[in-house]
Amino acid sequence: MEESKKIAIYPGSFDPFTNGHIDLVERATRIFDLVVVTVAVNSKKETLFTGQEREDLIREAISDKPWKDKVEVEQFTGLLIDFAEEKNATVLLRGVRQISDFEYEFQMALTNRRLSPKLDTLFLMPDENHAITSSSIVKEVALWDGDITSFVPPNIHKAILKKME
Ligand code: PNS
Repeated sequence: MEESKKIAIYPGSFDPFTNGHIDLVERATRIFDLVVVTVAVNSKKETLFTGQEREDLIREAISDKPWKDKVEVEQFTGLLIDFAEEKNATVLLRGVRQISDFEYEFQMALTNRRLSPKLDTLFLMPDENHAITSSSIVKEVALWDGDITSFVPPNIHKAILKKME
């Protein structure tokens, strides 16, 4: 009997995708057959990059990684649980860097479980080097001309500088 593929979705705003996100995707590819990086475009938040830009930048950022064939990048609008079903994913993946992330993550995980009891949320911790990295901090540092080299992949660094010209 053929074993079914283990598929996880990894949702987020990814505005922008950071080295912390890359670290998490790499870890996830060691656990799952397929990781679908799921770019949320229905959020009410104003974003620096459009959904399409975020999708393209993520794809480009991972294009030289040895694990890239286990990763898909897609935009989504609507409820995550519906997208997970569409992708046949059994796991929803989120990164937690610090305890302060947990309250919001806990609420979201249990909401998703109530809506879709078979979908489990798995939390992974990025490398400690990325414990302080967040998309909003990256944008703030870039806004004031700070050096964001260690926070984001080179293509995203370039794209942020261009947006802020
Ligand atoms: O990177 P973020 O901004 O913390 O990601 C938040 C995201 C996109 C995962 C969350 O806002 C979300 O799940 N949006 C989709 C709508 C949904 O399914 N909501 C119910 C779960 S609370």
